[in-house]
Amino acid sequence: MPHSLLYIVRESTAYLQRCGSPSARLDAEVLVAHALHLRRLDLYLQFDRPLEEPELASLRPLLRKRGRGCPVAYLTAEREFHGHAFTVSPAVLIPRPETELLVDRTLAALDRQGPGPVADLGTGSGCIAVSLALERPGLRVDAVDQSQEALRVAAANAERHGVADRVIGLLGDWTAPLRGRGPYRAVVSNPPYVTTAELAALDAGVRNFEPVVALDAGVDGLDPYRAILAGLPPLLAPDASVLFEIDPRRADGLQALCAAAWPAAAVARYRDLSGRERVLEVDLAGAGLPR
Ligand SMILES: C[S@@+](CC[C@H](N)C(=O)[O-])C[C@H]1O[C@@H](n2cnc3c(N)ncnc32)[C@H](O)[C@@H]1O
Repeated sequence: MPHSLLYIVRESTAYLQRCGSPSARLDAEVLVAHALHLRRLDLYLQFDRPLEEPELASLRPLLRKRGRGCPVAYLTAEREFHGHAFTVSPAVLIPRPETELLVDRTLAALDRQGPGPVADLGTGSGCIAVSLALERPGLRVDAVDQSQEALRVAAANAERHGVADRVIGLLGDWTAPLRGRGPYRAVVSNPPYVTTAELAALDAGVRNFEPVVALDAGVDGLDPYRAILAGLPPLLAPDASVLFEIDPRRADGLQALCAAAWPAAAVARYRDLSGRERVLEVDLAGAGLPR
């Protein structure tokens, strides 16, 4: 006899709880909805619907993978960021809510200074580059990554949101592919910032499934910032802003690197909703920033 949709959601929740998922009910609802090609909200309208065996065939492998710790976003191939749905794959970091602050601060910097091309270094899924292009019609965003696979995902997202003509994927090492393409009004980056020692202590879902090239930042967690800062000066407009996502523990170290690169610049650090410093902005003109 077929089971109801509600029964399947409850059984799936119980299975994921036994596997140790901290968000078992939510995961179960998202995966059941995905397997049935429904929106999560629609489940609640159809809880009594009987489910036939063929309808459950695609759910079982999803539950098994989630039970082994695979993040839900990789199973549904989708994550919401800055109000838009982004395609993700295991080749890219899953966009995080705290990165929305980096987008917002970059938009504020562009509003202060006027429009101009932007570079997004380490674009991954393209969530930052595409969000900026969506918010500022006409803005060109050069989106760099060293991973061809990541650039494919970013290109798919640019296409999906109708900004493929303005989000330009460039393959290479940080600033190298940008030579001759500036000057940039703003450069934004969420580079890897986990120290090699901290990698082992990361949540298993991150450690075992997200790309290590998106996480590992060397012994002190600052190597990618050093590499980016070394290549930036000739690419920037005189009044450009440079904005980085940070781990709060790395903020002082990064600020010291920025002060060495641009002694006259103003630096501001911004906190996310939970009060943690997550964005560091350098304003080369030294004006306009809250100090
Ligand atoms: C923390 S992820 C950020 C992804 C995306 N921007 C986001 O915020 O979700 C860092 C990205 O930097 C890329 N990356 C790492 N080393 C790089 C390098 N040397 N040159 C260019 N990109 C690099 C990784 O492939 C990864 O996509």
